[in-house]
Amino acid sequence: MNADNQMKRIIIIGATSGIGRKMAEQYAAKGNIVGITGRRKELLDEIEKNFPGKIKTACFDVTASENIVKLSALIREIGGLDILVYSSGIGEPSKELDWQLDKATVDTNVNGFIEIANWSFNYLIKQGHGSMAVISSIAANRGNSWAPAYSASKAFQSNYFEALAIKAKRIKKDIGITCIEPGFVDTKMAKGNKRFWLVSLEKAAQQMITAIDRKKRKVYVSKRWWLVAKLMRWTPFWIYKKLG
Ligand SMILES: NC(=O)c1ccc[n+]([C@@H]2O[C@H](COP(=O)([O-])OP(=O)(O)OC[C@H]3O[C@@H](n4cnc5c(N)ncnc54)[C@H](OP(=O)(O)O)[C@@H]3O)[C@@H](O)[C@H]2O)c1
Repeated sequence: MNADNQMKRIIIIGATSGIGRKMAEQYAAKGNIVGITGRRKELLDEIEKNFPGKIKTACFDVTASENIVKLSALIREIGGLDILVYSSGIGEPSKELDWQLDKATVDTNVNGFIEIANWSFNYLIKQGHGSMAVISSIAANRGNSWAPAYSASKAFQSNYFEALAIKAKRIKKDIGITCIEPGFVDTKMAKGNKRFWLVSLEKAAQQMITAIDRKKRKVYVSKRWWLVAKLMRWTPFWIYKKLG
């Protein structure tokens, strides 16, 4: 059970692997009820089996027309919604500026994201309490020539969440809106041989859960990535173009 001794009902969009899966496992191990989603049904079934009664599943593509219907059904199945985390994401390098890859990235990281974030924000506002979080990326801070659609899609997520945080404050609703910008976390998505300050999945999930509990508006994982974010933003283009 949580420190405040309250069982929470949590949905994680994109929890068949990586960060989403680890967060779901940690939330469930603490006694919460967790609804998880993804396209790979066999993985959803495997995770549900490991946490009987604590984890429920819904198999859907965030870009599909039935996404909100399936999400609503999962919320009913777990008995409500206290926290929603959007972790679904595509992050492949697009060296040749491949259109199919750019399109898939925007479909998932922008279109699927905004449909679910918009719906969830309105759900939580109407209910009057709760939190939502997105796993954006440090890549949100600047254009990246190796993955242009990815860095642009993450800037979209971070900006949208900043706007939602202001909106919630303006209408005086105590809704937690947490934007998480990780550096490198040890999943298959963190590719390349230039990885540094790599954070273990266990530690990354713990830090993200703590930030959401504290209703932090913006958090870097690990914390030292704050410095990279600032350097990325402050570096003039004539220097940045040699790196980005
Ligand atoms: N790992 C890092 O270093 C890092 C750094 C910064 C940010 N991030 C962000 O963290 C998030 C999670 O990434 P990860 O590293 O944990 O990678 P991952 O293991 O590949 O997880 C991605 C998750 O997204 C789901 N997903 C992808 N496309 C989907 C779609 N169209 N519909 C529904 N679900 C979809 C996948 O499930 P299915 O395939 O089963 O659908 C999977 O559960 C991503 O948004 C990523 O951009 C990661």
